[in-house]
Amino acid sequence: MPIFSSKKQSPEPDKQPKQHRRSVKDSSQPTSTQENILQPEAAIDEEGKQEESIRPQKFADYIGQKDLKDVLDIAIKAAKSRGEVMDHLLLYGPPGLGKTTMAMILASEMGVNYKITSAPALERPRDIVGILVNLKPGDVLFIDEIHRLSRMTEEILYPAMEDYRLDITVGKGSSARTRSIPLSKFTLVGATTRVGALTSPLRDRFGLVQKLRFYEVDELSKIVLRSAELLQTPVNSEGATEIAKRSRGTPRIANRLLKRVRDYAEVKSFKNIDQPIAAEALQLFQVDPCGLDWTDRKMLSVIIENFNGGPVGLETLAAATGEDTQTIEEVYEPYLMQIGYLSRTPRGRVATKAAYQHMGFKPPNEQLSLL
Ligand code: ADE
Repeated sequence: MPIFSSKKQSPEPDKQPKQHRRSVKDSSQPTSTQENILQPEAAIDEEGKQEESIRPQKFADYIGQKDLKDVLDIAIKAAKSRGEVMDHLLLYGPPGLGKTTMAMILASEMGVNYKITSAPALERPRDIVGILVNLKPGDVLFIDEIHRLSRMTEEILYPAMEDYRLDITVGKGSSARTRSIPLSKFTLVGATTRVGALTSPLRDRFGLVQKLRFYEVDELSKIVLRSAELLQTPVNSEGATEIAKRSRGTPRIANRLLKRVRDYAEVKSFKNIDQPIAAEALQLFQVDPCGLDWTDRKMLSVIIENFNGGPVGLETLAAATGEDTQTIEEVYEPYLMQIGYLSRTPRGRVATKAAYQHMGFKPPNEQLSLL
């Protein structure tokens, strides 16, 4: 099954503000037909093609997320044995953890085709209607950023998800009537970084709601070794672990850092990527030993130096770092909280003792004890 990505690749895919896209990727269509329905901005560039080439295509190749794989394995086997489509699935969690990959693997394991789109590409009711009426029995429809659906699009989805039915209104005023059009039975896979932003009627229509977790270093290290092999880049296990440690628990970042380290090793004529080379390269790219970049460090230093450790409001952090509040909440904060450097309180963000130590400051009560 050919694999297509709906995402335009950029050097910092995890750190970009969300872009509006109007595109649908269809795994059942040959590339020439794809070109008819894709807008130019969705063209897959070189880095995107490489990302596709290393994307796992079956559960056996997918490292990590064991609990999720176990749940999906049962759901797939049960649906297959009954000859039914799988229940709708909502995947949530920070960006880059493999939600799209999971949807593609799900389709592949079910032996069906998938279509990929995202909520910003479904602004008008006719966008979603066009996709729904063209679904074939069993298809997987993946909608990224599903918390951003417009109200009208969402309302079209309710009967489509529940009864595989499209309700459309024909005529206007007193002569308006609702007509129902049957749809093929399909599985909707929704992905979101903000499960709390989904309306409850939409959330309730997913039979399975599953969270993707940050990956452990040993899992990321295996991912780096697997990707390095596919990219024909020699990396030893210590080199892979160094990259893994700096990848913020996120495979997409691990693979991106691997490519940066590979560039560095090639330019410096190093044959094999080992720990010192990986560390040297990532220091050059300002990724610190915990994987924190300039913005993470700026956030922590603002809280510590300007606000005595906090609490600090989100808007203040956004202004200090030049990031928008959404990117801070969805990309930066989850990892800083995961590693215990930041806590969210009702009055704002607070830097923890571990953050003080990591940033080279004395934690507040130690300062007091010196007085
Ligand atoms: N590449 C990106 N994510 C991966 C995963 N979870 N397993 C294997 N390779 C990957």
